[in-house]
Amino acid sequence: MSKFFYLETFGCQMNVVDSEQIVDLLERVGYAQVETPEAADLILLNTCSVRDKAERKVYGHLGRFKPLKDRRPELIIGVGGCVAQQDGEKLLEKLRYVDLVFGTHNIHRLPEMLAGVEQEGRRRLETEFLDADTRRGLFPERAAKEAVTRFVTVMQGCDNFCSYCIVPHVRGREISRAGGEILAEIRDLAARGVKEVTLLGQNVNSYGLRETGEMSFAQLLHAVHEIEGIERIRFTTSHPKDLSDELIECFGSLPKLARHLHLPVQCGADAVLAAMNRGYTRAQYLDKVARLKQVCPDIRLTSDIIVGFPGETDEDFGETLALVEAVRYADIYSFLYSPRRGTAAAQWEETLDPKDKQARFDALLAAQQRISGEIWQSDVGRVLPVLVEGTSRQGGAQLFGRTTWNRIVNFAGPADRVGQVVPVRITTSLKNSQVGELEMEETRAAS
Ligand code: 5AD
Ligand code: SF4
Repeated sequence: MSKFFYLETFGCQMNVVDSEQIVDLLERVGYAQVETPEAADLILLNTCSVRDKAERKVYGHLGRFKPLKDRRPELIIGVGGCVAQQDGEKLLEKLRYVDLVFGTHNIHRLPEMLAGVEQEGRRRLETEFLDADTRRGLFPERAAKEAVTRFVTVMQGCDNFCSYCIVPHVRGREISRAGGEILAEIRDLAARGVKEVTLLGQNVNSYGLRETGEMSFAQLLHAVHEIEGIERIRFTTSHPKDLSDELIECFGSLPKLARHLHLPVQCGADAVLAAMNRGYTRAQYLDKVARLKQVCPDIRLTSDIIVGFPGETDEDFGETLALVEAVRYADIYSFLYSPRRGTAAAQWEETLDPKDKQARFDALLAAQQRISGEIWQSDVGRVLPVLVEGTSRQGGAQLFGRTTWNRIVNFAGPADRVGQVVPVRITTSLKNSQVGELEMEETRAAS
């Protein structure tokens, strides 16, 4: 008889990939995934603690499951990911209805932990960090699924210790996966029809630097570029300090590389960048942006920005606004600073009035919305290559895909175009997506 699990995933793409591994592991031991917690024998939350809001959301969601457990004591509730790593034992103590807690390095142990809970009824906790060699052997080998695009993990962890950031504390030290293994996975994906891969890591730019004899990230990109069947390559996330000339050059020399780069700046003022321990100045960042635009004039950049870091003055914030105007990001993800336990910045006093912090945030948002509007609006009327990812949920003959700039485009077309790069004339630019019309081959030939 099959058992059922319900899984909720919070946070970044790392967690999304980890959740894919969780699904694989559970399916292998006879569990099937369901869409509602009420229908499940096992409820799992894969959690994020990068900001206070994310963490509170996790605890809020967990609370919803308590009544289910009260009604069905045999229900198993588990918590994994970054909150589990961070709060570990405290979480088990505080929430008596949680049965198992597994850290970011312990996902592979889930079947054994689960068997322990099922057979012995004991609560389980595993959150210890593994050494680099053990982890290198444990990069998720996920079951291949029918898909047009896939994430491929190339490295995990982070050694940068930006002073606001919890990631190095909950994900551990940086390790890179063997290049040969990455290429073998991508070849396999290509053979199964995957057209686009996104190489994933907390800081892919430092891929291979800590492993003797490993290729650099730029060399890895060149090797992925050779793989037949793969038509588009993306990668995320990049740390500006590790964005090498060799990697910048790739945007000029590798046609399959999408002309989009997420290059989080976090702040535009040198004093704040130094306090954040970012390892670059405003001028160095802008210099890299200029070189990117030189080798690839139509590249579009996106960024993360933190507003209200301890000590950020009005002038500092003004520098951030000016940088946003100068770079003209296609999009930014902006965040109100929130202190994270155990990070260096958590000890620094926040002097900014919350109202002023919010006002800066709103000003940044307004500036960016104007710039984003102008950039995405400039696509209207153009014919852009779109990699078709699927048919839209509304049904009918509606397709969706992405442009090289990672914008979703919805348009009418036959389902047999899924997996192909097709020419689409953009007719409307909405806030987060675009609408277009499939160009007929004849029109294309004539124009
Ligand atoms: N407060 C606010 N934003 C944060 N980020 C990371 N830590 C914090 C924090 N303590 C943001 C950064 C990072 C993104 C994933 O989350 O901008 O790039
Ligand atoms: Fe956090 Fe900085 Fe590492 Fe990014 S590079 S995960 S912001 S410590």
